[in-house]
Amino acid sequence: MGKKLFIKTFGCQMNVYDSARMTDALASSGYAPTASVDDADMVVLNTCHIREKAAEKVYSELGRLRQMQEERLRADGSRVLIAVAGCVAQAEGEEIVSRAPYVDIVLGPQTYHRLPELVAEALQEDGRPLIDIDFPAEDKFDHLPEEAAPQGVSAFLTIQEGCDRFCTFCVVPYTRGSEQSRPVEAVLAEARRLVAAGSREITLLGQNVNAYHGEGPDGRDWGLGRLIRAVAEIDGLYRIRYTTSHPRDMDDELIRAHRDVDSLMPFLHLPVQSGSDKILAAMNRRHTADDYRRLVDCLREARPNLALSSDFIVGFPGEADEDFAATLRLVNDIGYSQAFSFKYSPRPGTPASSTAEQVPEDVKRDRLESLQQLLRAHQETFNQTQAGQVLPVLIEGEGREAGQLVGRSPYLQPVHFSAPIHRIGQIADVAISEVLTNSLRGEVVIPRTGSDGPSELRVGI
Ligand code: 5AD
Ligand code: SF4
Repeated sequence: MGKKLFIKTFGCQMNVYDSARMTDALASSGYAPTASVDDADMVVLNTCHIREKAAEKVYSELGRLRQMQEERLRADGSRVLIAVAGCVAQAEGEEIVSRAPYVDIVLGPQTYHRLPELVAEALQEDGRPLIDIDFPAEDKFDHLPEEAAPQGVSAFLTIQEGCDRFCTFCVVPYTRGSEQSRPVEAVLAEARRLVAAGSREITLLGQNVNAYHGEGPDGRDWGLGRLIRAVAEIDGLYRIRYTTSHPRDMDDELIRAHRDVDSLMPFLHLPVQSGSDKILAAMNRRHTADDYRRLVDCLREARPNLALSSDFIVGFPGEADEDFAATLRLVNDIGYSQAFSFKYSPRPGTPASSTAEQVPEDVKRDRLESLQQLLRAHQETFNQTQAGQVLPVLIEGEGREAGQLVGRSPYLQPVHFSAPIHRIGQIADVAISEVLTNSLRGEVVIPRTGSDGPSELRVGI
């Protein structure tokens, strides 16, 4: 009987993509994915180190896995391998095995292609944990299996890794290393494979994705705008998205892509972090709040229906009441359709963690609460504007209720409606009849196309 693999993914979409890659890599070692951790022969925690809470979750999860490992050994003598991958592995390495000696493998995001070897070694070893957190000089993308497993209607595709921006709060430049872009041809080949396997939407991923500068077929570096135009040529691909971006890397070519490429969705996650120039400078973001406002104006000029999302950090060291007030002002000026907000969490080794002016926890908590309240109000306002409108919805799968399907609007809102199951993977025009906090409901509109009579569902954007 084949062996079973369970991967638990924490953190960002890059990790979701990496988990899919690890699944592919381990297929060659005879592991097939299972949905239940209880019958797994190998468990991988793909971890996130971005905030303290995210990292702590890993240790509590490991505690539970240890119990399972012991029970399985007692019950049928089988050995369950435990691996810790991702950014906690990269950042903490040895620390993990000293806190959790029952872990078999610790590997960083740069070494996933070595998983099959590590597993083979771990199975021979008598209990010594293997740690592989190198930053190898070779291109890790080169070692991934050609035949990636299908990802469903909406797929992720990592085109860029690492970050050279060194925001003073962020561990990414340390855990994921310096910026590296995949060559254009490699991205296009993978995108074509995904579409051939049934994907209709591709989200191009990178820690700083709009800094993309991959080598093009002409031997020159291509920016993200140019890459998006090439991806948009792929037949059968209806929607393109990208995440996550830095305002400073938003060049004219990319803004023009928002104007010209219909399949590039009118929704952009463009983190600003703070609305205060003093805090933005201390964060090393290298732009002001007004630079950001002007950039959003340009983007909206290029794509008038563009909706925006952002990340915010409250309680960054030195953040005074007036700095926080500037953040609230910026939120009101931009009008986000959704956003993420976090309390500042000092990360070991980052410059901001060692500054003296740390903000007290209760101040952080109060600010987070007021910011989230404001952001929720904006999200509700935005969602309300969809009531009564007809939205093109890419159908991703079945909903919770019988006969119900679920898809996404161009603005990433989940939309529920009734339609037959074979419509998954198509675009439906859905008239929005109900606006809930985090999702929309509606009915499929059957467009009348003159003498052709009703055509059931539109295929395309
Ligand atoms: N504390 C709080 N939030 C952080 N983020 C990154 N590092 C930290 C930190 N040390 C947030 C930023 C980033 C998002 C992915 O996580 O807002 O955009
Ligand atoms: Fe971290 Fe993003 Fe700043 Fe890079 S641009 S250092 S990933 S917050």
